[in-house]
Amino acid sequence: MIGLQWGDEAKGKIVDLLTECHDVVVRYQGGANAGHTVVTGGQTYKLSLIPSGILRSGVQCVVTGGVVLNPPSILGEIDGLRSRGVEVGGNLLISDRAHVIFPWHMVEDRLTEGAARNGEAIGTTMRGIGPCYRDKVGRANAIRLGDLYRADFRERVERIVAHKSRIIAAIAGDQPTGQDADRLDAATIAADYEQYAERLRPHVADTTTYLLDTLEAGRRVLFEGAQGALLDIDHGTFPYVTSSNSSGVGISSGAGVPGRYLNRIIGVVKAYGTRVGGGPFPTEQDNDLGQHLRDRGNEYGTVTRRPRRCGWFDAVAARYTARLSGVDTLAVMLLDVLSELAEIKICTAYEIDGRRVTVFPSQVDDLRRARPVYETLPGWRQEISHVRALSDLPPNARRYLDRLSQIIGRPVEIVSIGADREQTIQAIHDSGVDE
Ligand code: IMO
Ligand code: MG
Repeated sequence: MIGLQWGDEAKGKIVDLLTECHDVVVRYQGGANAGHTVVTGGQTYKLSLIPSGILRSGVQCVVTGGVVLNPPSILGEIDGLRSRGVEVGGNLLISDRAHVIFPWHMVEDRLTEGAARNGEAIGTTMRGIGPCYRDKVGRANAIRLGDLYRADFRERVERIVAHKSRIIAAIAGDQPTGQDADRLDAATIAADYEQYAERLRPHVADTTTYLLDTLEAGRRVLFEGAQGALLDIDHGTFPYVTSSNSSGVGISSGAGVPGRYLNRIIGVVKAYGTRVGGGPFPTEQDNDLGQHLRDRGNEYGTVTRRPRRCGWFDAVAARYTARLSGVDTLAVMLLDVLSELAEIKICTAYEIDGRRVTVFPSQVDDLRRARPVYETLPGWRQEISHVRALSDLPPNARRYLDRLSQIIGRPVEIVSIGADREQTIQAIHDSGVDE
């Protein structure tokens, strides 16, 4: 399951629904920048690092080595779940290969964003995600979860803190470094992380081998993508992206699972567009319509509470990410948010320097100059959150879904018309068939 936009596609709800027919649920990239909301049994759960499958008994949850792990944050999630009666024990495995986020990563995240003040900042979630992935690729200053149990762990922390302190002082110049920078004390950090390591010990495993064994045994595994494909480090709107492969192509590398085991991919889209943070967003509506979508869709970040930028559905982008991610079918989320509108637009092409294109640009500067070409469809102007069958949706709502499906070239399998598990329409709805 992959988000096809810039994140926040309501993936949490889809994972929860799909979990019913899976034995194992896997988080394989990203970190505590993700915010997944699941509403079940009248309760709302906000999960970040732990797969949403944790809410169902008998489901094995796995956090693989492709994830960057913030120990206090995952421990906080574990405590929060347990205090609400959710069992977290052997049903949660965490890879010993996962790279660990340390306080210096948060300081670096803030400083890098500060340094971009003159250009457009990426607008990261400040969770240290980019700096931790940078250290992973750079190798010399990286610490993996398994390293926390080694005899030389303290020594490593001391060496890295000495190195990072010099870098941070140099980048900071006269910028305020904030309190965390002053608190980069190797002994304290090492002692804190040794405690976290003790608490995490029962969950730590070689998840690559576990998953290979599981798949070879024919069990059903669900891979839960975080963020969205347009934020993919290699194939998204670089540099306004996250630091991992958040499109479908990231599953294999993040989880250590060969592509031959991926037999069905669901692409999750919101019925309109949103983006949080910087970077171009051709269909953005920085006006009353955008505010209407923000209010109705409660478009405020789960992690940072930032108001999300809102706009029309960008089918040029979604068609690209559906192809890139190998998507079989679509889940269209938050359709009810459009219910009051008289007209609804879909971006079907861009005009860049007077040329009409339907290929998603590889260069962010081109995307910045792209002017959306819209197709306008009539709205349905009635509430739909009680609807449970495709045939009970107003004809104009069906027409909108048909058109999305047709342009993206994938059938719509699921339509969501509210946050609750019940507010879901199962709809295999082949593209073009009804037209
Ligand atoms: P979920 O899983 C929406 C965005 C940030 C920023 C950029 C880089 O809830 O859909 P980072 O902290 O990752 O270095 O920030 O990516 N971003 C998200 N936007 N949903 C998310 O996750 C996001 N995770 C990161 O806003 O623009
Ligand atoms: Mg989010």
